[in-house]
Amino acid sequence: MVTGIPGVGKTTVLNELQDLAKQNRVGLNVLNFGTIMNEIMRELGKQMNRDDMRAQDIESQRKVQELAANEISNRAGQGIIVVDTHMFVKTAVGMWAGLPQSVLQKLNPRLLVLVEAEPEQIAARRRGDADRKREGALAADIGFDLEWSRATAAASAIATGAPVKIIRNDAGSQKQAAQELFESIRKMVGA
Ligand code: AP5
Repeated sequence: MVTGIPGVGKTTVLNELQDLAKQNRVGLNVLNFGTIMNEIMRELGKQMNRDDMRAQDIESQRKVQELAANEISNRAGQGIIVVDTHMFVKTAVGMWAGLPQSVLQKLNPRLLVLVEAEPEQIAARRRGDADRKREGALAADIGFDLEWSRATAAASAIATGAPVKIIRNDAGSQKQAAQELFESIRKMVGA
């Protein structure tokens, strides 16, 4: 389970991870939780931008979150599955767990990863992503979000028994971040 706040660069790191897996002939499949939720919403007749999903009422999001977890769980058993998701989502009514107990039970993660970077770097990356509807880019707010992610990861670690690995995605070091992630996954699954 690879998580990180918006703009930290987890998708960039996961793209590098997929290249590494190919080079090393390791079967690894990355599934993006948000993309699966977006597809389910479309099937339910609610087509929308991925950045608008967190603005929906919480019960609709919860229903789709559960369906997405079912879908991911159904795809297990095809080599190593890496899920690109969030420890929490900022909704209109507050910080909402991306991986509540019910989702953790369905997905049963073996490793919980937090991708992190300096708040100022995350703010700059958000400002640079013109094609996305990103949250505000105040470094102080981003610092709080990083702390909240760690607190949520600690709770998830207790609930699942899975270790938490923190991976730094500093400026220009996405390949090193992916290498560290790849090694952690290999150690965890013995690949
Ligand atoms: P999702 O698509 O995961 O949203 P996101 O966090 O915005 O993810 P991105 O992949 O777009 O951002 P990123 O931080 O990975 O950054 P990127 O690699 O692009 O989720 C969408 C929605 O789905 C959520 O809002 C939520 O509604 C829903 N959702 C998802 N999971 C859920 C769950 N479990 N429960 C409920 N809802 C859920 O990089 C950003 C920028 O930084 C880029 O410009 C990149 O070039 C740059 N960059 C990256 N790394 C570096 C580096 N090392 N040095 C310099 N620049 C870098």
